[in-house]
Amino acid sequence: MAQYVLATRAVGRHYLDPELRDRMAELYVDLRDVLYASDTVIGRRERRVLRFAELVLQSEWKLADLSGAGRSLDVLSVLSGPRGKRYQPYANVRLLNQILGTRHRSSDASIEHHCRQVLRFLLRSWLEYERRSAAGTESWGWQRPPSAGEMDERLERLSALSRETAAWPATPPAHDSPPARWDGYVGTAGHGDILEYLVNLPQTQHHEENAFLRVIHLTEVTTSGILARTLSARTWLEQGRLREAGRCLQRAARLAQLQLDIMRVLRRTMSVENFLGFRKETGDASAVQMTSSQALNIHLLGVHPNKVEALESVPENAFLLFHLNDRFQPLRSLLQDVPQGTEDGAAVLSAARDLDEALYAWRRLHLGLAHRYLPKEAPGSGGTSGAPYLSGFYQDRLFDPSGCLFPHPVPVSAPSLDGQHVRARSVFSPLN
Ligand code: HEM
Repeated sequence: MAQYVLATRAVGRHYLDPELRDRMAELYVDLRDVLYASDTVIGRRERRVLRFAELVLQSEWKLADLSGAGRSLDVLSVLSGPRGKRYQPYANVRLLNQILGTRHRSSDASIEHHCRQVLRFLLRSWLEYERRSAAGTESWGWQRPPSAGEMDERLERLSALSRETAAWPATPPAHDSPPARWDGYVGTAGHGDILEYLVNLPQTQHHEENAFLRVIHLTEVTTSGILARTLSARTWLEQGRLREAGRCLQRAARLAQLQLDIMRVLRRTMSVENFLGFRKETGDASAVQMTSSQALNIHLLGVHPNKVEALESVPENAFLLFHLNDRFQPLRSLLQDVPQGTEDGAAVLSAARDLDEALYAWRRLHLGLAHRYLPKEAPGSGGTSGAPYLSGFYQDRLFDPSGCLFPHPVPVSAPSLDGQHVRARSVFSPLN
């Protein structure tokens, strides 16, 4: 394990020794067979270690290059099979979800608690990384660092965010070096080490890819917290419990504001040249494949007609199209029935407005990134038209600028999913 982490940090994941990656991918296939065979008898502790190993190994299996050069047919036949899109293994999203507890049917309070722990840890870890880089004591991600001016602004912004989260619950700290064995990562005591050593594995040695992945992780975590609270707010509204719904939306709005501030760090401190320097190596990994974000937008606004094709083309997200049915009520529909004249009703609408405002500002900023960082008319790495795709729905929101609720988007009928393998799974982290 330690060798894997150190090797990946030394050369970048894209340049890992193909033999090491093949070995990990083969191990994943073996492990999967053992873990899910009905006659496997293993103890609880062993099962936890193996389940954890499965998360790490699966991402190597998904990223393995099967183009065939230099591989025996035996190896290729073991490694082949439908592997899904690259964003999730690239960003190690399943590992993050494991720490957030989104796969355990956890309560919204528990998920938010873990989100806050992880956000505090990741912000601090990023700040420390940039401080070491600025001081010249960090060798990880040494290529194409930001300019001195960009670094100063980044340190300032990260210090402010880290101060803002300093009183949030803490994660057990990481050790000074990566644990040498799998079981060193298992259990709550291993969370710090997972976050420090296993979640962030850039493809290259480019400093800014390292920073970019950190923004992705922070966005994943804030999105999970916002989604957890939005789902609860919907349930409370269905039961007419306005006060509770208002509190959930308020908490979601605070996380959405933080998410916006995190994206501003990228926008303000990463140059276009440095972004384009590592973009090729990330391949077709794109956050259009980000399940939590797609789910959040659907639970807030419903399925937008302009996104059906993008959802349909990502096997991990196609199940979300089940929300295209008359019985599903996104938050936008439920808000229509909230009485404006009562104190609790006004609090719900005010919190929903704050949430809507922060998320809308994020979408505007993000669309600006697509215009600024990508060559003109370049398609997105996720296979969409890029900026035009994002323009097609970024203005769809809960409230108009005068604070009135927007009506539903144009309804669309569910597309035919004939022949596609779509599994109905729970709303949260279906891939875990
Ligand atoms: C310079 C940085 C970035 C650029 C140029 C960019 C560009 C794009 C583009 C062109 C798309 C359309 C889908 C496709 O790839 O074909 C997209 C989708 C998306 N991006 Fe980014 N992006 C950037 C950073 C980020 C970051 C750091 C996150 C954080 C997770 C993020 C989250 C998303 C999400 C959630 C979508 C899906 C939008 C939707 O379908 O609702 N992006 N991005």
